[in-house]
Amino acid sequence: MSAWPEHALAAASHRDPYPYYLELARQGWARDQRLGLWLAASHAAASAVLACPACRVRPLDEPAPAALAGSALGETFGRWLRMSEAPIHAPLRAAAAASLAAQEDERAQRRARDLARGFLAGAAPDGARLDALVDFLPAATLASLLGWPERSLLGLSGQVAAWCRAVAADAGAAEREAGEAACLALHAELAALADAGWLARWRQEFGELGEDALRANLLGALFQSRDAGAGLLAAGIAWRCEGPWDWREAGEWRRRLRADPVLHHTRRFVAEDATLAGQPLKAGDQVLVLLAAAARDPAGPGESMDFGRGRHGCPGERLALAIARGALAALEEIGPDWRALGGGMVFRGPPNVRMRRFGAGDGR
Ligand code: HEM
Repeated sequence: MSAWPEHALAAASHRDPYPYYLELARQGWARDQRLGLWLAASHAAASAVLACPACRVRPLDEPAPAALAGSALGETFGRWLRMSEAPIHAPLRAAAAASLAAQEDERAQRRARDLARGFLAGAAPDGARLDALVDFLPAATLASLLGWPERSLLGLSGQVAAWCRAVAADAGAAEREAGEAACLALHAELAALADAGWLARWRQEFGELGEDALRANLLGALFQSRDAGAGLLAAGIAWRCEGPWDWREAGEWRRRLRADPVLHHTRRFVAEDATLAGQPLKAGDQVLVLLAAAARDPAGPGESMDFGRGRHGCPGERLALAIARGALAALEEIGPDWRALGGGMVFRGPPNVRMRRFGAGDGR
């Protein structure tokens, strides 16, 4: 591997992307002609983009990917608050944030621990089993808390994975077909759940926003938890492989995430000409917001940016951390050979996630 990442989309999987990010953060803005992207790297540039209403989460003329038109996948995607800049975004976000906040951290942590215990039962975990655990646990814990029966959680995490692959920009027809089947199955399973507990709370919070919005955004939460949640959990395990650390403390997660972030970038589409942190941008430009560079910018306030900022910032942070803590609690009970588990670790995953793989993972 070369000393410098090939470009910003390859940086999250580079062994040490931080000298590269530091250089970019010092410049503030950079243009990557080959990728056709502006890079917002300093804390000031990244924050200005995330705060600007002209910098949108989707291109103006394509609210959902054209390749998904006419499918249940496209219909669901079009209702996600994560992908919306319409006036409906604010009430959807308020309802989802209130629903997520209604789940107690302790309960989520215990559920994750119990699911991880069951998943790891029977044999000392090797690298491949750890990879399988990090892929399984975030979406499975959320689904379990919503009332999904335990016997269907393995299938559910596979369906969420198929869905993630299908909406990726480089997905082929076969992947979209598999994602469509997974999306339809997840909708059917969700519709069959008893209206009780946390699910009833979501329904109450969504109220007049309607059942379609509720279902799409509940499944959207499972989707959001998948890659980022796996990256977070794998980071916590990798740090434990290096030595004991205080994973029970939220402040310690923040400190480590600032030093070695998991979620490295997000994208924005410029809807009208604007000048942000000194950089003129034109309508139609695309910006890669380098959260990982901004977090480490010496001129910034020295805060982790892993969970984003502003009107699209992550409402799932507390739950994601509770799930990761639950997994670490289950692993500590087993007391594996941490050093051996960390020995074969590589970085391989989606371009925006610094994803650790411990065994023969497939890189997703
Ligand atoms: C329980 C797991 C999680 C859930 C339910 C969840 C949910 C969400 C939702 C609903 C949004 C969209 C907010 C909006 O557009 O208004 C979001 C955004 C975001 N999430 Fe999460 N999330 C989870 C885990 C994570 C993790 C583990 C990370 C980082 C390691 C993360 C990083 C982000 C970031 C950076 C954004 C903002 C993206 C942008 O501004 O383009 N999330 N999340």
